[in-house]
Formats: sequence, C-alpha cells, structure tokens
Amino acid sequence: MGLALSLALALSRPSDAGAQAPPPPSDATVDARVDALLAQMNPEEKAGQLSQYFYFVQSPPMAAAIEQQMKAGRVGAVLFTTDPRQVNRAQRIAIEQSRLKIPLLFGFDVVHGFRTIFPAPIGMAASWDPALVERSQAIAAREARAAGMHWAFGPMVDITLDPRWGRVFEGAGEDPFLGSAMAAAQVRGFQGPYIGAPDHIIAGPKHFAGYGAALGGRDYDEAEISDQQLHNLYLPPFKAAVEAGAGNIMAAYMALNGVPAAANRWLLTDVLRKEWGFKGWVVSDAGGVASLVTHGVARDGAEAALKALGAGTNMEMIPPGQAATMPAVAAAVAEGKLPAAQLDAAVRPILAAKFRLGLFEQPYVDEARAEAVMNDPAHRVAARVAAERSAVLLRNEGAVLPLDRTRLRSLAVIGPLADSARDIMGSWVFDLNHPQARSVLAGIRAKLGPGVRVDHAEGVRIPPRLHPSPMAALERNKPAPPPLDETAGIARAVELARQADAAVLVLGETQEMSGEMASRATFDLPGRQRELLDAVTATGKPVIVVLMTVRPLTIHDSKAPAILDVWYPGSEGGEAVANLLFGDATPGGKLPYTWVRSAAQLPMTYARLPSHDPARADQRYQEASNAPAWPFGFGLSYTTFAYSRLTVLTPKVRPGEPVSVTVDLTNTGSRPGEEVAQLYLHQRLGEASRPVRQLKGFQRVALKPGETRTLRFTITPADLRYWNAARRDWVAEASPFDLWIGGSSAAELGGSFAVAP
Ligand code: NOJ
Repeated sequence: MGLALSLALALSRPSDAGAQAPPPPSDATVDARVDALLAQMNPEEKAGQLSQYFYFVQSPPMAAAIEQQMKAGRVGAVLFTTDPRQVNRAQRIAIEQSRLKIPLLFGFDVVHGFRTIFPAPIGMAASWDPALVERSQAIAAREARAAGMHWAFGPMVDITLDPRWGRVFEGAGEDPFLGSAMAAAQVRGFQGPYIGAPDHIIAGPKHFAGYGAALGGRDYDEAEISDQQLHNLYLPPFKAAVEAGAGNIMAAYMALNGVPAAANRWLLTDVLRKEWGFKGWVVSDAGGVASLVTHGVARDGAEAALKALGAGTNMEMIPPGQAATMPAVAAAVAEGKLPAAQLDAAVRPILAAKFRLGLFEQPYVDEARAEAVMNDPAHRVAARVAAERSAVLLRNEGAVLPLDRTRLRSLAVIGPLADSARDIMGSWVFDLNHPQARSVLAGIRAKLGPGVRVDHAEGVRIPPRLHPSPMAALERNKPAPPPLDETAGIARAVELARQADAAVLVLGETQEMSGEMASRATFDLPGRQRELLDAVTATGKPVIVVLMTVRPLTIHDSKAPAILDVWYPGSEGGEAVANLLFGDATPGGKLPYTWVRSAAQLPMTYARLPSHDPARADQRYQEASNAPAWPFGFGLSYTTFAYSRLTVLTPKVRPGEPVSVTVDLTNTGSRPGEEVAQLYLHQRLGEASRPVRQLKGFQRVALKPGETRTLRFTITPADLRYWNAARRDWVAEASPFDLWIGGSSAAELGGSFAVAP
C-alpha cells in the first residue's frame, strides 16, 4: 500500500468544479431502478461495479488501461482523481462509451478538508464540539462535491489507546463516548440530511474494525481485542456512524483476532448488517482483498474475491499496478460456484448509491463553479475558528498567556516548525504549495504589524525518518534546504530570546510523522528540539511552547511556563495560533486522550478497571510514576472555572429509567471563556468489573466573567449498559453508581445514585 499511496500523492491535485444532486427518491423507487438495471447487466459488468481503481490521468499508460475497463463497463468507482475536468472526462468515457452507461463513483480521502484545510481530526475531537465538527465536514463535503467527489473515505472512527500509532492523527482518541459523538457528527456533516443531498457526499467510516489496536501501535500489525473491549470500546463509534446513516464502510487491513477484516463474516455481516441494519456497501481498504492471499487465508486472487464477497465486502479498492480480483466472481457465477443472487446482492447497494446521488440524471460537475466554491471565504473563517476551538492549553504558569500586545516590543519566534506552511496542515494534504496556508510566524507577523519586532530562528531541524514516509514521494522534487549548524542555531535562538520580551517556540513533529505508516517508538521531541527548548527556557524569558503534533510528546518535565497544543491546525492555523497567543481567541479544548509521561506506559486509558490494588495504580512501575502527565479531558483556559452544587435529581431509578443531574458552573476569572463540563460514571457492582470512570456526558459552555450557569445532564439507560463477557451479551445491572462532573477525568465533585428494581 505504501506504493499506492505514494503514487496517489505524487499524482493527485485538487482544483476545479460542479453539480447538484436531485431531491431524495423513495426506497421503493431506488430498488425498482436497481432491479431494472441489474436485469440488463451481465456477470462481468456486475463484477465491474465491485471494482474501484486508483485512477491517475497523469500516468497515461495506467489511465488508458483503466479507461479500457470503463468502456467495457467494468469499473464501478475510482479514487484519487480530484480535478473536475478530469472527473468529467472520465465520467464521459463511462457514460458515452459503455454499453449500459452506468456512471462512476469518485471517492477520495476527504479527511480534514478538501481545499480549505481544517485541523487534524484528533484536534477537531479536542474541541469537544460536535456541532463544529459537523459544520466543518459539511464544508469539506461542499468543496469535494463541487469538484465531483461523491464519497469520502472517512470519518476514521478507530479508537486507539496507543498514540504510537500514527493514525491517531485521524481519529477521536481513546474514548468511545467522545468517539461516537465525533463519528456521528462527521457522518451528518458529510452526508447532510439524506444520501444525495446537494453539496454533500457519502461518508465511509473506517477502518472496520479494531485497526487502532494494532499491536505496539505498529501500523498494519494485527489487533488482538477481547470480546468486551470490542463491544464496549472499539465498535461503539462505528455503530454511532451507522445509526447516523453512513452509506459506506471501509473494512480494515489487519487481522482482527486472527481473521482479516475483509474476510470477517462475523464483523461485516453478522454485526454490521444483521445486528446494526447497515444498508450501504462495504469497500476494502486499498489492496485489502488481494492481501487475503498475503494474510494466508486465500490461495489466490480468485479465492480472495470469493471469500471477501462471502464475508460481506462489496467493493475492492485496487492499488495502482495491482490486478483486480473481483472479475473472478463473474467466472464463479458461470461455473456455479457462486449463486447469481449473491453477486446481485453485492452490487445492489453500489447501484443504489449512484441512483440516490442522482448520477444517472446529472453525472457531470460544473467546472466553473468548483473553483468558486473552494475559495469561498466563509470556509476559511470556519477553518480558523475550528483551529482556535481545537487548541488545548496544557500549562500557563504565571498567566504568561495571553501575551499583551500593547506592552510587547519584541518577540522571538523559534523552532523548526515556526515558519512551515507545509507542516501546519498535517497529514493527508497533498497540495504542497497550498494557496492559503500560512505558518505560525506569518500569522504572528500579520497580527503584530510593523510596531513589534519579530525575530525568527529555526534553531534545529527535525531529522528525516529512518523509513521514509510514503508521502515523501510527493516532496521528491523539493530542493533541499541549506545545511544548518544546529549548535550555532541553538546559540542564535538563545540570543534572540535574550533580546526579546518573550519567546514562542513552535516544536513537535513534521506532518509526515503521523498518518498512515507513521508509527513512532518514542515520544521524545524529535532531533535536538528538547535541547533547544531547555536552552531558550534557561534565559528566564517568558517562553511559550506551541506544540504541533498529534502525539503526547514528552514535555511535561520541561520548565517552559506555557504549553499550547495546537495539533496540526490547518490552512488557517497561522492566524488562529496568533489569535490564541494574543488573546483574541481563548483556548477551550480538552485532551481526547491521556497524555502519558512516556511511550513506555502504553497502552493507557483513564477508564481502567479498579484492579485489586487501586490505591497504587500510579505505582505499577518500580522506577517511574505511572500517572499521566495530563489526564484525559484536561485543558486550561485564560480564565478559571468552578463547579458547585452537584445535585442528583433522581437518586434512585428503576432499570430503564434516565438519571438527571445538575451542576453549577461558574467563570471565576476575569476573562470570558469556554469550559467543557464532563460527566463520568462508575458502576460499583456488577457481574463484571467496571472501569473506575467512564465519560457519559459533556457540554462545551461559554461563560462571561462571574457568570454562573446551571447545567443539566441526562444519563440514558443506554449509557448504563455494557457488554458482559461472562454472559456474552449486553446487560444493564442493578447497582449503586458514582458520578463526577468537572473539567477533566480527574474531576472531584461527585455524587451517586442507585439503579434498583
Ligand atoms: C489506505 C488507508 O488505510 C485508507 O484509510 C485510505 O482511505 C486508502 N488508503 C485510500 O487512500
């Protein structure tokens, strides 16, 4: 897959634009149209609908081979062609030159924006603001649809307890409640009110299921997940996405408990379709059907196709240069090895999606409109606001932040990421010279204007990866920067800091250090960044670290007085970070995962089981504390908040009844700010041991200085259920419950209630 991705990245360029979808047809209308079309199709054409090709017009021989297949009616979908002119051209081939004129589906990794780039999804989750997340993905969908895309390979809803895994970038972190809220919000944002709604695209939650549990955080390695973890932790965001109406699901690469996901009938059919009622189509990850041979569960491509289809995979995503396996199912029908009805059942949801999207009526996009949509200034404002709302303030000793612009005469902006408009975008952005992206340095300069002296020193460089990223192919023509003497670079940075009123250090990981094939074995600041940080901090000047990373890098033991995690804030990140530093925006985000002290603590979650020795849960290692550096849900503001008067309105409920709780939240500081109030639950007694705490509610609330608001939380019966491994079923047990409400998973204000028959 590394190669597939490299080619995809090297050849793809988003640009111009589009078409609109018709109002929603009824299910009966769609079914009738699908049946009528299926009746005209031969087995080869049906198998063609199950095939999705990486399609790069920039590579003529490869494109020509796929175009031959389009003419023969043997391509259902393509991916990685994002230029609307090329979209229209390919669509014309499929429609004007094939026997049945079936339009193609265009899919793409719309991960955190299309032209306008929003923060990394993990940062969006850190906003704890589902409405913001929904709006952001709606904008991404609008841009993508204008360019001719029909389907996003997203959201990625994989829970992970191990941020060594590079794809922590794309998910919502460690918690299934937060993860489910983010999953559903993204599906709503992508798809709008119904599949085929104008300006929207189909969502394809991925990677079903358990990819985030890759052993050791090593991308692609197997996931060994217990029954209870699968149901209570890894599956809930997928279920939430399906309940929100997701039209597609992508099967994961790896083996889940030994069975590769694309051939896992229990997962793709029993759980997804029978239990959850999923009606859309399942696509494999790129090469995920052919790799059933590599996994050792199929003898050859033909057997792989049959196994995948039999398990519930509908469509095969085919990397460049790899042979399609799905054509084998046509032969299998002819040989009587596969019932024709089973092939029809696999094709049906794919054709249904094309009808719902209105592609038979309007397959083409309006090329003139696309550029205008992608340059809509409102999209940029939304991305800037998203970046501001995703930032998490980890430390702010002596109220160093916000910097007072009226008093500041000079500022040193230091670090290898300070002036990078490329890294600020994060992974899954393929446009190297993005027209809008601005670095943090540029954002600060624009905000401060000529009245404040802003000096910049790179200091040190982030060393290249030992095993290059597949994304590196994209950068192959980039001229190498002039060599840097890092010892002199650190000295220069220290000098600039000494001469300035304050220093902002932009540190972290380059954009290619997370995403696919981007696992890390340590959380050290790469290269000599820590040395740079310590040297600049030693000047005694106010030092603010702006962290650009999706990992819990080891920085809690530095003496820097202020640490602001901005993830990868996206194309408007420069302006957003400047707004945060100078108080035109106030951080209000909260950590979507436990910030460990070192990678050696992983996997880690706040929602651990009590164990027989809870008092010493932080002393499990003989030489180091096992407590987190910062707990799940943590994040500061420029103001302060206090919780009081927690009242359980229903101290005793019967099974199946909701529980209501109120709490007063007060802004006790002198600035307006936003707090994410979080409710955690613990079931004291049950047939299984239950986590010490589990998130079961949250609200992001804006309060003026001195303002108090009474917040009401409702705990639903569903929140009190869990999968019990002893019963192999969902249970809701009579038990006393403890609850806490506060600004992180370490919340202290508590109460209790009982569920009793
Ligand atoms: C492989 C990745 O795992 C998946 O997330 C992505 O959607 C496909 N490649 C297509 O780029």
